[in-house]
Amino acid sequence: MRILVTGGCGFIGSSFVRLVLAERPDWEVVNLDKLTYAGRLENLRDVEADPRYRVLRGDICDPEAVHDAMVGCTLAVNFAAETHVDRSLLGAAHFIDTDIKGVLVLLEEARRLGLARFVQISTDEVYGSIESGSFTETSLLNPRNPYSASKAGGDRLAYAYWSTYGVPVIITRASNNYGPYQYPEKLIPLFVTNALRGQALPLYGDGRNVRDWLHVSDHCRAILFLLEHGTPGEVYNVAGDNERENIEITRKILHLLGRPESLITPVQDRVGHDRRYSLDASKLGGLGFRPRVDFEQGIAETVRWYVENEWWWKPLKDHDGEFRRYYEQQYGERLG
Ligand code: NAD
Ligand code: DAU
Repeated sequence: MRILVTGGCGFIGSSFVRLVLAERPDWEVVNLDKLTYAGRLENLRDVEADPRYRVLRGDICDPEAVHDAMVGCTLAVNFAAETHVDRSLLGAAHFIDTDIKGVLVLLEEARRLGLARFVQISTDEVYGSIESGSFTETSLLNPRNPYSASKAGGDRLAYAYWSTYGVPVIITRASNNYGPYQYPEKLIPLFVTNALRGQALPLYGDGRNVRDWLHVSDHCRAILFLLEHGTPGEVYNVAGDNERENIEITRKILHLLGRPESLITPVQDRVGHDRRYSLDASKLGGLGFRPRVDFEQGIAETVRWYVENEWWWKPLKDHDGEFRRYYEQQYGERLG
């Protein structure tokens, strides 16, 4: 069995590649990744010598690159995407390219080659914000920022290739992931690495927005489970059942690091900031899947990982001009 993983050098994709190599000894993995600012070969340094693993640098928008990577594969999981909401607010063109057009290129090739399964990794953000209660898979989609709108495009295109051409597509919509190897633009790694240096933690608005936190290893286990037990044409929510306000997450990080709460710096809110995400994942639970990682343990281990793996994030924050430019653009005025 050979599986194509796109975006396998990113945060969740690299965790999934590692899981497949560890748990499916007779599977081969082909990783197609453009190596954007978020894709890093270092994320899979521990498996790069495995003869069952191959990484190809290429863009999912490029039909030739996609053909070369997909030919010979039976399964595909598409993680490749532009993923950061704040960046989509600075410019959405790359999001439309990768998160919609790239998905189309992958689906066309999956159709031509007759893949047995194609998993499209979507997001809970496609449902938009919810004040109370939780979204089920049949809730209306109401994406409210350029990132989530482009992900909704990819999500519905994948479904269209199932309903129109019978491509055996499965769509997953997961909540906020946390864990090792997450690019330090996202809330948890940004705040941990800033706190370690005694820098301000820029908390948007009143800090009361709610996210559901899912450990990346549980997300990846759910995807592997659905590859083998999911039904084509179906959508599955993947939740951590662990909703927290951002201020609570922020205080938890500071407490774990023994740093003062005076580092918390309320700043101008994200425009169009979704107030709360909440998923009902009973459809996946009904198939027998359960997340394993307890949040208290998961967040403590995650914080410790960033403390112990400065080699991974320090060069990014210190020497990567791209990160520094982005940080200045996103936070310069906010932090004065
Ligand atoms: P990430 O930003 O860490 O990694 C994205 C990866 O995709 C990188 O390796 C990048 O190089 C690659 N990539 C980007 N554009 C590409 C292109 N055109 N061709 C090939 N490769 C390309 O993202 P992540 O957080 O690991 O998210 C992975 C997937 O999961 C995304 O589809 C995202 O929408 C979805 N998702 C993420 C979360 C989360 O909390 N992080 C939650 C739900 C769903
Ligand atoms: O819900 C799933 C989504 O989760 C994924 O689809 C996205 O790819 C992923 O980036 C994530 O989106 P969010 O916008 O929820 O994640 P982020 O880490 O950017 O922000 C989490 C919360 O923290 C959000 O309410 C905004 C807030 N925040 C974030 C940053 C970066 C701050 O208050 N300050 C910050 O500096």
